[in-house]
Amino acid sequence: MKEIFISIFKKVYIQIIFIIFFIGINVYFLTIPSKVLGKIVDLFYNIQENKIQIYKYIFILVSTSVVALFLRATWKYLIGYVTRFFERDLKNGLFHRFLMTKLDIIQNIKNGEIMSYFVKDVAEIRRFLYKILSAGTRLIFILIIATYTMKNIDLKLTIATMCPIIITAYITIILKKYVEKSFKKSQRYFTNLSEYVQESTDAIRTTKAYSGEINQLKKFIKKNKILKLSNISVDIYSTLLSTSINICFGFCYGIAIIYGSRLVLNNSITIGDFVAFIGYIDLFYKPVEWLPRIISSFKRAQISYYRLDKVFSLEQENLKLGKIDKKEEIHGDILIKNLNFNYPGNIDQVLENISIEIKEGQTLGIIGTIGSGKTTLMNLLLRLYPIPDDKIYIGNQDINNIDLSILRSSISYITQDNFLFSTTIKENISLFKDDFQDSEILDSTENSMLSNDLNNMKNGIYTVIGERGIDLSGGQKQRVIISRAFLNKSNIVIFDDTFSALDNRTEKSLLANIKKLVKGKTCIIISNRISDVKDSDNIIVIDAGKIVEKGTHKELLQNNKLYNKFYMQQSSQEESILM
Ligand SMILES: Nc1ncnc2c1ncn2[C@@H]1O[C@H](COP(=O)(O)OP(=O)(O)OP(=O)(O)O)[C@@H](O)[C@H]1O
Ligand SMILES: [Mg+2]
Repeated sequence: MKEIFISIFKKVYIQIIFIIFFIGINVYFLTIPSKVLGKIVDLFYNIQENKIQIYKYIFILVSTSVVALFLRATWKYLIGYVTRFFERDLKNGLFHRFLMTKLDIIQNIKNGEIMSYFVKDVAEIRRFLYKILSAGTRLIFILIIATYTMKNIDLKLTIATMCPIIITAYITIILKKYVEKSFKKSQRYFTNLSEYVQESTDAIRTTKAYSGEINQLKKFIKKNKILKLSNISVDIYSTLLSTSINICFGFCYGIAIIYGSRLVLNNSITIGDFVAFIGYIDLFYKPVEWLPRIISSFKRAQISYYRLDKVFSLEQENLKLGKIDKKEEIHGDILIKNLNFNYPGNIDQVLENISIEIKEGQTLGIIGTIGSGKTTLMNLLLRLYPIPDDKIYIGNQDINNIDLSILRSSISYITQDNFLFSTTIKENISLFKDDFQDSEILDSTENSMLSNDLNNMKNGIYTVIGERGIDLSGGQKQRVIISRAFLNKSNIVIFDDTFSALDNRTEKSLLANIKKLVKGKTCIIISNRISDVKDSDNIIVIDAGKIVEKGTHKELLQNNKLYNKFYMQQSSQEESILM
């Protein structure tokens, strides 16, 4: 995290130097009107004689105000630029971090939490940067320049007037602890509410199907009420803070007026000096009023910083670790030797003593009961979870020795979940890679039996899926995902239960196309339907994480075990549908 801050800072430090420089001059210009006003007041004693002098000062007054205005606009623009730049780079870094984090870690972070990192935490840090650059820098310059100018009028008067400001700072430090506590609470409730909104919108179909809207709403109202109460307590402490500052400033003015007028009566200072002095106090008002806001903003940003720092220290996948870093070196032989696996942090064994051998050019069918570990096994082939050495070999290489990006690009894995991005069908197939022509995408949709459906859509492969586009049926979604297999040129192709939503005719034609595609390649077809796996060179049956049968379709039917049971069940189902 520190590194990313330093790298962003290196890119904008020149702008920051300019900001500090412009604010410094701006503050100096702001002290001029009080000084000039004081001089004008003193010249009023003899207006006739000092007429020209007074006009000269009025001119200075107007022109310094105009210059101050321009300076203010310039540094404000620069601060906006720097903080937006910072926000952009921080979000880029954060997103990159999430994408590169190990799967077992990222899966344990809730969506609402991830959203609040992007929306709330980055914004808190940006807001603090804005405040420290604008208000913080001005405060420091005002303290130096205005105190110096005030001291030149009368040192004792300056010290007496400054006392309440010191008291204000003390009160701020005490109150900020409470602000901090209540803010932490409100942040927690905010995350909680965001997670709830996210989950509820994800599950909106289920909620509607079970008429659960009212119950969901009641729960939301309750959570929102808690958030409101915690936000109110943040507001109370903040108001308390600003009120105490106002009271302290009342004291400042009081001391300046009482003690200052005595000095005027004693002829220690002129009336003009007195007027200028009151003007300088005014200069202090705003920055001191900002002080608690800067401090509370600092506290919020600090909490956000630590939260983001945690994300930045999550364990990353090293894509470039592995001696084998050329795709050509990975051919299609797959060997799995006595593999056992349980998910990190989970004691239940998901895979037990799995041994499989697939020669390049062969197709392996995998069939099994629900939750038996089929998808887990495929995830391990892609090294989505850590596995010990000497367990899985691809192209005669231990997969732990293969560069991760090369390993994953050698395998075309058509996943079981129907997740599609809310973008065009083309981007969903190419997965945002620009190196494919439209004709290649169209060929892939032809092979995946999607082209007829596309012909009925006005924008074809440029149809946007989701929110503003159309909602695809389960079968259409599966075929969009299957198109990826026909687009990618990989030696190994895996279909993980991707035909479940297809009708028999489409499935038959698709399987024929897949047969052509995987000629000479290694293919794994996972399915719960015998019809999808029966033509494979070899079939394995998995039950509760163990391989319970191995063989060809014919051999397995003769075995009269689980495979045969599936076959009988599915045949009788088909018959009853036909009847
Ligand atoms: N990320 C995970 N963390 C912990 N356990 C998991 C995780 N993913 C899956 N499991 C568990 O591992 C077991 C195997 O799941 P897996 O998804 O591999 O089964 P499957 O054979 O593909 O099932 P299906 O036929 O439903 O697709 C299940 O008991 C599941 O609950
Ligand atoms: Mg599965």
